[in-house]
Amino acid sequence: MVTHTSDAAIVLGIESSCDETAVALVRGDRTIIAQRIASQEAEHAPYGGVVPEIAARAHAERVAPMIAAVMADAGLTLDDVDAIAATAGPGLIGGVMVGLVSAKALAMAADKPLLAINHLEGHALSPRLADAELAFPYLLLLLSGGHCQCVSVQGVGRHVRLGTTLDDAVGEAFDKSAKLLGLPWPGGPHLERLAAGGDATRFALPRPLFGRAGCDFSFSGLKTAVAQIVAKGLDAGARADLAASFQAAVAATLADRAKNALAMAPASTALVVAGGVAANQAVRAALAGVAARAGLPLVAPPIRLCTDNAVMVAWTGIERLRAGLTDAFDHAPRPRWPLAELTRT
Ligand code: KG4
Ligand code: ZN
Repeated sequence: MVTHTSDAAIVLGIESSCDETAVALVRGDRTIIAQRIASQEAEHAPYGGVVPEIAARAHAERVAPMIAAVMADAGLTLDDVDAIAATAGPGLIGGVMVGLVSAKALAMAADKPLLAINHLEGHALSPRLADAELAFPYLLLLLSGGHCQCVSVQGVGRHVRLGTTLDDAVGEAFDKSAKLLGLPWPGGPHLERLAAGGDATRFALPRPLFGRAGCDFSFSGLKTAVAQIVAKGLDAGARADLAASFQAAVAATLADRAKNALAMAPASTALVVAGGVAANQAVRAALAGVAARAGLPLVAPPIRLCTDNAVMVAWTGIERLRAGLTDAFDHAPRPRWPLAELTRT
């Protein structure tokens, strides 16, 4: 067996930590050979959030056929693959177990190395797939439904978390406020569309932690303020104004936190934004301003790489394979797995 660790290396990646079952084949030269994503949005929408039991069952049904389909799309067999990567956490444990055990079985059967990927490192390193020039260290703002963190990404397996949310993740704040405004789940994109026709100066909403030291976040007070305004009753125009005011408060807060985070990581080569909320244009514009004032580029990978996907898992597998960081077959699935606990040894 020849294991490539160069540009020719091919890694199969599996993602199943939340409500996306995803499989991808990525080559070391940054080629996405094939990928598929099956979203479970429709299954969870009636409940207004992800139901872990439903998610785990859906992953169990879909993952094997999806692996077969991606291999067929690529016209490859497991012999052509250099290593098998899967998200091993953090995430909903049932789904993580499905993906990780599938990867272990394939790796064992095909006699290939296993790469147990930290989902957060997947988000952290995938911008390097999209941008070959992106050099360590860079400042990552991870803005998703489950995570909200400022991280100094210093190398493969080397990450320093500078700040995190004290309560809700930013995507969660979007989703909860959208629900209060009567929008369907997941509400972030709906809220952005509603905000497009609104007056962002109409409601003076709180900007939690704005102007304070550090780069932690807090969003629950903002959501409460939205709830109090909604409770008084809103006409259609006021709904759009409230959505726009909420979005402006979030964007300003994120910009303030990002500015402090850059000051805490002065060697950063770029400000990088990832996670589903990175799709929001108001958020991007605010962060572009922060980056420009710091004389740095804002790197925002294509949205399909920002949200959960298996390409980021396969690419992180490539980076770890190059660094010689393969994993044992008894690697535990982890519901919680902070980036700080990733080591290179
Ligand atoms: O990264 P992601 O796909 O999944 C995880 O949470 O891991 O992020 C999903 C989150 C949801 O909260 C969704 O409402 C939010 O990203 N989101 C947005 C937008 N698109 C997705 N929030 C605000 N504006 C958007 N355009
Ligand atoms: Zn994610």
